Amino acid sequence: MAAVSCWSQPLALLRVQGLQQSDAPQLKHFRKGTHLSTQRQQCGACRRVDQLFGSHLASGRQDSFLGNRQLLTAASSAEHQNSANVERWNGGRAVAVLDFLQRVVPAKKPSDRVTLGPLKVSPMGIGTWAFGNRLLWGYEEEMDGELQDVFNLVVSRGINLFDTADSYGTGRLNGKSELLLGKFIREYPGSEESKANIHVASKFAPYPWRITTGQMVDACKASAKRLQMEQVSVGQLHWSTANYQPLQERVLWDGLATMYEEGLVKAVGVSNYGPKQMLKIHKYLEVRGVPLASAQVQYSLISSGGMQQEIKAVCDDLGIRLISYSPLGLGMLTGKYSAENVPKGPRGQLFRQILPGLTPLLETMRAIAAGRGKTLPQVAINWCVCKGTIPIPGAKSLVQAEENLGALGWRLTDGEIRALDDASTRIPRGMIQNIFQTK
Ligand SMILES: NC(=O)c1ccc[n+]([C@@H]2O[C@H](COP(=O)([O-])OP(=O)(O)OC[C@H]3O[C@@H](n4cnc5c(N)ncnc54)[C@H](OP(=O)(O)O)[C@@H]3O)[C@@H](O)[C@H]2O)c1
Repeated sequence: MAAVSCWSQPLALLRVQGLQQSDAPQLKHFRKGTHLSTQRQQCGACRRVDQLFGSHLASGRQDSFLGNRQLLTAASSAEHQNSANVERWNGGRAVAVLDFLQRVVPAKKPSDRVTLGPLKVSPMGIGTWAFGNRLLWGYEEEMDGELQDVFNLVVSRGINLFDTADSYGTGRLNGKSELLLGKFIREYPGSEESKANIHVASKFAPYPWRITTGQMVDACKASAKRLQMEQVSVGQLHWSTANYQPLQERVLWDGLATMYEEGLVKAVGVSNYGPKQMLKIHKYLEVRGVPLASAQVQYSLISSGGMQQEIKAVCDDLGIRLISYSPLGLGMLTGKYSAENVPKGPRGQLFRQILPGLTPLLETMRAIAAGRGKTLPQVAINWCVCKGTIPIPGAKSLVQAEENLGALGWRLTDGEIRALDDASTRIPRGMIQNIFQTK
C-alpha cells in the first residue's frame, strides 16, 4: 500500500464526483497529489480540510472506495469501528472530507461543463427518444415547432449534450430523432460557436442483421448523415447481445473500436451494459487503445438498486461517465400521474403497476421540493446530478424544458439525499429493467 498525501485525497474525491479543481475555487491550492505547503498555509479552506481529514490515508485504491458513500458511511459507523478496513480509510474522516467537499463545491449550472471522456459537456443532457415516437410518446409532426423551441431554449441556457439513437422513431418515422436533431442544430438561431460545441451521443442498435464490423461502421455513417454531422460526438452500443446472441457481441465491439479509429466518433460508450459485461468491453477496448467514455443505464429514484450501484462503482473505478436515462421514471417521478390518472398507451399499464407503491417516495420528494422551492422533476434530476451522473431527461414542451433546466444551479443537501435514498430503497416495486440489460 502506498502512502498517499492528505492533499491528494480531496483531489481523488473531486475526480470521483467528476469534478475539476476549478469547480471549487476554495480548493484552488490543491495540485495533483502534491502538497503545496506554503499555499496551504494561506488557504482557510485547505486548513479546514486538513483539520477534517487529519493524517494521511494509506491505500492504493482510494479512488474506488471513496466513490462508494455507503462503504464510507459504514466505515464511520460505530459498528465498524473495530473493522480492519477502518484503518484503510482512516475511520470516518473520508466521509467528513466528502461532506465538506459537497459543501464547498458550488452547484452545477447548465452552462458549466463536466467531462465525458475527452468531451466537455453540460451536467445534464436532453434525451430525444420521444422525437418521432408515436407509440409510447404520442409524437405528431405538428410538435416539431415546439421541439425546435425546446432545443433552442436549452442550448441558449448552456445545455450542449443530446442523446439519440438510430432506432428512435417508429414505423415510417424511423431515424426521425436523429433527423430532427440535425435540423434543430442547423436551424439554431444562436452563435456558430454554441452550435459547434453541441455534442450528440447516438446509439447504434445491434440489429440481428448487423453481423459484420463494416455494417456497424456503416450504421455510424448513416447516423452522422441523418444528423448532418461529420462526426458523432459519442458513439454508443445501444445494448449488448451477450444474453441472446453472444457471437455478435465481438462484432459490435470491433465496430465500435473501428468507428473511433477511423475518426467517425470522438468518444465511445455503451448502454444497458451491466458491470460484468462492461469490464469485458473495457478490457477489449483498452487493448485496442480506445477509451470507454460513458455507460448509459436506467438510473433514477425508482431505478437505483444493486445493479445500478455496481455499475456506478465500475464506472468510478475505470473513469467512465454514467449517463442516467429515464431519470424521471418515464414521467412517474414528475408527480403529475397517479394510479387513477395514467398516460395513454403502453406507459399506462406500467404506471398502474408501479405508481401505487411510490406514494411514500413521492411524499418525501414533495416535502423536499416544498422546503427548497423546487418541483418534483427538479428534485429527481438533481438527485442524479448529486450522484455524479449526467441525467438526460426527455422534454416534450417548453414548459417541461424550462422546469427541467431548474434542476440545475442548486444541490440537494446530504440529509435530503439520504432521505431520498432511504425512500427509494423502500419502494415495493421499481422500474422494470430494460430487457437487454446484461449482468
Ligand atoms: N439507452 C436506452 O436504452 C434508453 C432507454 C430509455 C431512454 N433513453 C434515453 O433517456 C432519455 C430520457 O428518458 P425517457 O425519455 O425514457 O424518460 P424520462 O426522462 O424519465 O421522462 C421523460 C418524460 O417525462 C415527462 N416530463 C418531462 N419533464 C417533465 C416535467 N418537467 N413535468 C412533467 N412531465 C415531464 C414527459 O412525458 P409526458 O409529458 O408524456 O408525461 C417526458 O417525455 C430518452 O429520451 C432517451 O434519450 C435511453
